Amino acid sequence: MLKTDEAAIPAVARLIAAARSVVVATGAGMSRESGIPTFRDALTDVWARYDPAALATEAGFRRHPARVFGWYTWRRHVVRAAVPHPGYHALVALERVVPELTIITQNVDGLHHRAGSARVLELHGSLERFSCVDARHPFPADEIADSEEDTDRAPPHCHRCGAPVRPDVVWFGELLPAAVTTAAWDVAARCDAMVVVGTSGLVWPAAQLPFVARDAGAAVIEINPAPTEVSPAASIVCRGPAGRVLPALVAALTETERGPT
Ligand code: OAD
Repeated sequence: MLKTDEAAIPAVARLIAAARSVVVATGAGMSRESGIPTFRDALTDVWARYDPAALATEAGFRRHPARVFGWYTWRRHVVRAAVPHPGYHALVALERVVPELTIITQNVDGLHHRAGSARVLELHGSLERFSCVDARHPFPADEIADSEEDTDRAPPHCHRCGAPVRPDVVWFGELLPAAVTTAAWDVAARCDAMVVVGTSGLVWPAAQLPFVARDAGAAVIEINPAPTEVSPAASIVCRGPAGRVLPALVAALTETERGPT
């Protein structure tokens, strides 16, 4: 039976307690309560006049490298000022309960790492990594001069080939990083439960993951205040924000672990 509110948390806790391998798949909604704007929210302020194709495509970067590099510099400052909310810490606590917990995230903000989660697959890359635009040679992050005011400055050049350096994130029209993608699809196809948090399920191929898990026999649980494209794949739906539902889930799991008295 489909359950559709936070009253479903004890049922989710029982499922997780019985699972050996659990995947938590997160999207932009996971970071909302930490104050990080989603991709579209981030096109505000001075950036409102640009369209996404100008700021998040290789063609846009090659046309205006300083502008695009500047936009990512601004986004890095927003992310560095943010603090992981209690939902992030709940996912770290979950690692002590679940034998194999993997986080697959579409987010580029690195908050799962900062909170202390051990196994995180970043499908769309990271704001804190860099590579050159031609050959994708890695470029050391500590050589990126980062000033908040410096939002219109040419990026550095690759030490190996001289090409301009770009953020190591997935832009529109690009393939996801191969090794991370293989690992994500593999664990999705063999997990016992997948908890999908804060994603609209609109961006492919990440949106496929809950369906991969469901078709392989896993229980899919959605945590999101609103219905999404993922909802049809879910056997249990918790309608609520990640910062409230995830800590409540870990508390319920601790109860379940203790067992009936
Ligand atoms: P979206 O912005 O498409 O969806 C955010 C989801 O979070 C929505 O379903 C909201 O209902 C939900 N949400 C909002 N607040 C929440 C909260 N407090 N707790 C839980 N959920 C909440 O974000 P994504 O599905 O992650 O791709 O898609 C974003 C992707 O689109 C990015 O990774 C980026 C962009 O194009 C690339 O860069 C390739």
